Amino acid sequence: MRKLFAASLLLLCFASPAMASSKSQREHGAALFATSGCQHCHTIRNVGGHKGPNLSSVGRTKSKEAIRAQVVNGSKVMPAFGDVLQPTELDDLVAYLRSCKDKPIK
Ligand code: HEC
Repeated sequence: MRKLFAASLLLLCFASPAMASSKSQREHGAALFATSGCQHCHTIRNVGGHKGPNLSSVGRTKSKEAIRAQVVNGSKVMPAFGDVLQPTELDDLVAYLRSCKDKPIK
Protein backbone atom coordinates (compact mmCIF):
# COMPACT_ATOMS: atom_id res chain seq x y z
CA MET A 1 0.00 0.00 0.00
CA ARG A 2 2.76 2.31 1.03
CA LYS A 3 4.71 1.43 -2.05
CA LEU A 4 1.70 2.20 -4.18
CA PHE A 5 1.43 5.63 -2.59
CA ALA A 6 5.10 6.33 -3.25
CA ALA A 7 4.71 5.17 -6.83
CA SER A 8 1.74 7.42 -7.46
CA LEU A 9 3.57 10.37 -5.93
CA LEU A 10 6.45 9.70 -8.29
CA LEU A 11 4.03 9.53 -11.19
CA LEU A 12 2.50 12.84 -10.17
CA CYS A 13 5.93 14.45 -10.16
CA PHE A 14 6.65 13.19 -13.63
CA ALA A 15 3.32 14.39 -14.94
CA SER A 16 3.82 17.86 -13.50
CA PRO A 17 4.04 20.52 -16.20
CA ALA A 18 6.41 22.49 -13.97
CA MET A 19 9.10 19.92 -14.64
CA ALA A 20 11.38 20.20 -17.61
CA SER A 21 10.20 17.97 -20.42
CA SER A 22 11.70 14.53 -20.85
CA LYS A 23 12.71 12.84 -24.05
CA SER A 24 9.82 10.39 -23.82
CA GLN A 25 7.39 13.29 -23.34
CA ARG A 26 8.67 14.96 -26.48
CA GLU A 27 8.57 11.70 -28.43
CA HIS A 28 4.98 11.14 -27.35
CA GLY A 29 4.22 14.74 -28.34
CA ALA A 30 5.70 14.18 -31.78
CA ALA A 31 3.54 11.09 -32.22
CA LEU A 32 0.45 13.05 -31.16
CA PHE A 33 1.33 15.79 -33.62
CA ALA A 34 1.27 13.21 -36.41
CA THR A 35 -1.88 11.38 -35.27
CA SER A 36 -4.11 14.21 -33.96
CA GLY A 37 -4.44 16.05 -37.26
CA CYS A 38 -1.89 18.82 -36.65
CA GLN A 39 0.34 17.50 -39.41
CA HIS A 40 -2.51 17.84 -41.88
CA CYS A 41 -2.12 21.63 -41.67
CA HIS A 42 1.36 22.19 -40.23
CA THR A 43 4.80 21.20 -41.45
CA ILE A 44 7.62 20.34 -39.06
CA ARG A 45 10.99 19.49 -40.56
CA ASN A 46 9.65 19.09 -44.10
CA VAL A 47 6.76 16.78 -43.16
CA GLY A 48 3.18 17.98 -43.21
CA GLY A 49 0.66 20.31 -44.83
CA HIS A 50 0.66 24.01 -45.54
CA LYS A 51 -2.72 25.32 -44.41
CA GLY A 52 -1.12 26.61 -41.23
CA PRO A 53 2.32 28.08 -40.53
CA ASN A 54 5.43 25.91 -40.53
CA LEU A 55 6.10 25.03 -36.88
CA SER A 56 9.72 23.92 -37.22
CA SER A 57 10.88 26.91 -35.20
CA VAL A 58 7.79 27.60 -33.08
CA GLY A 59 9.82 26.85 -29.93
CA ARG A 60 11.86 29.98 -30.62
CA THR A 61 8.95 32.33 -31.08
CA LYS A 62 6.15 31.11 -28.82
CA SER A 63 6.01 30.47 -25.08
CA LYS A 64 4.68 27.26 -23.59
CA GLU A 65 1.55 29.13 -22.50
CA ALA A 66 0.93 30.65 -25.93
CA ILE A 67 1.31 27.31 -27.70
CA ARG A 68 -1.00 25.60 -25.23
CA ALA A 69 -3.63 28.35 -25.54
CA GLN A 70 -3.54 28.11 -29.34
CA VAL A 71 -4.02 24.33 -29.26
CA VAL A 72 -6.74 24.37 -26.57
CA ASN A 73 -8.77 27.25 -28.03
CA GLY A 74 -7.91 27.11 -31.72
CA SER A 75 -8.72 30.21 -33.74
CA LYS A 76 -10.93 31.32 -36.59
CA VAL A 77 -8.94 29.12 -38.94
CA MET A 78 -7.66 26.39 -36.63
CA PRO A 79 -9.89 23.89 -34.80
CA ALA A 80 -9.77 23.79 -30.98
CA PHE A 81 -8.28 20.66 -29.44
CA GLY A 82 -9.16 21.34 -25.80
CA ASP A 83 -11.91 18.70 -25.87
CA VAL A 84 -9.98 16.23 -27.99
CA LEU A 85 -6.68 15.91 -26.14
CA GLN A 86 -6.19 14.90 -22.49
CA PRO A 87 -4.27 17.38 -20.29
CA THR A 88 -1.22 15.09 -20.20
CA GLU A 89 -1.35 14.74 -23.99
CA LEU A 90 -1.39 18.54 -24.22
CA ASP A 91 1.65 18.67 -21.92
CA ASP A 92 3.55 16.30 -24.19
CA LEU A 93 2.48 18.04 -27.38
CA VAL A 94 3.53 21.43 -26.01
CA ALA A 95 6.84 19.98 -24.78
CA TYR A 96 7.48 18.68 -28.28
CA LEU A 97 6.61 21.97 -29.97
CA ARG A 98 8.77 23.91 -27.51
CA SER A 99 11.67 21.70 -28.60
CA CYS A 100 11.19 22.66 -32.27
CA LYS A 101 13.83 25.36 -32.50
CA ASP A 102 15.15 25.13 -36.03
CA LYS A 103 16.55 28.28 -37.58
CA PRO A 104 13.63 30.09 -39.21
CA ILE A 105 13.41 29.68 -42.97
CA LYS A 106 13.69 33.01 -44.69
C1 HEC B 1 -7.34 22.95 -40.26
C2 HEC B 1 -5.92 23.29 -40.18
C3 HEC B 1 -5.22 23.23 -38.83
C4 HEC B 1 -5.12 22.17 -37.97
C5 HEC B 1 -5.75 20.79 -38.06
C6 HEC B 1 -4.23 22.60 -36.89
N1 HEC B 1 -3.83 23.90 -37.12
FE1 HEC B 1 -2.57 24.99 -35.96
N2 HEC B 1 -2.90 26.64 -37.11
C7 HEC B 1 -3.62 26.65 -38.30
C8 HEC B 1 -3.57 27.99 -38.88
C9 HEC B 1 -4.23 28.42 -40.18
C10 HEC B 1 -2.77 28.77 -37.99
C11 HEC B 1 -2.38 30.27 -38.15
C12 HEC B 1 -3.49 31.19 -37.82
C13 HEC B 1 -3.75 31.25 -36.36
O1 HEC B 1 -2.89 31.72 -35.61
O2 HEC B 1 -4.81 30.81 -35.95
C14 HEC B 1 -2.37 27.90 -36.90
C15 HEC B 1 -1.55 28.27 -35.84
C16 HEC B 1 -0.97 27.40 -34.93
C17 HEC B 1 0.02 27.76 -33.95
C18 HEC B 1 0.62 29.15 -33.74
C19 HEC B 1 1.80 29.27 -34.67
C20 HEC B 1 2.43 30.63 -34.65
O3 HEC B 1 3.65 30.70 -34.91
O4 HEC B 1 1.74 31.61 -34.40
C21 HEC B 1 0.36 26.62 -33.26
C22 HEC B 1 1.37 26.47 -32.13
C23 HEC B 1 -0.46 25.55 -33.81
N3 HEC B 1 -1.25 26.06 -34.82
C24 HEC B 1 -0.41 24.24 -33.37
C25 HEC B 1 -1.27 23.24 -33.82
C26 HEC B 1 -1.34 21.90 -33.23
C27 HEC B 1 -0.44 21.40 -32.10
C28 HEC B 1 -2.33 21.23 -33.89
C29 HEC B 1 -2.85 19.83 -33.60
C30 HEC B 1 -3.28 19.56 -32.25
C31 HEC B 1 -2.85 22.13 -34.92
N4 HEC B 1 -2.20 23.32 -34.83
C32 HEC B 1 -3.86 21.81 -35.82
C33 HEC B 1 -4.29 25.58 -38.86
C34 HEC B 1 -4.43 24.32 -38.28
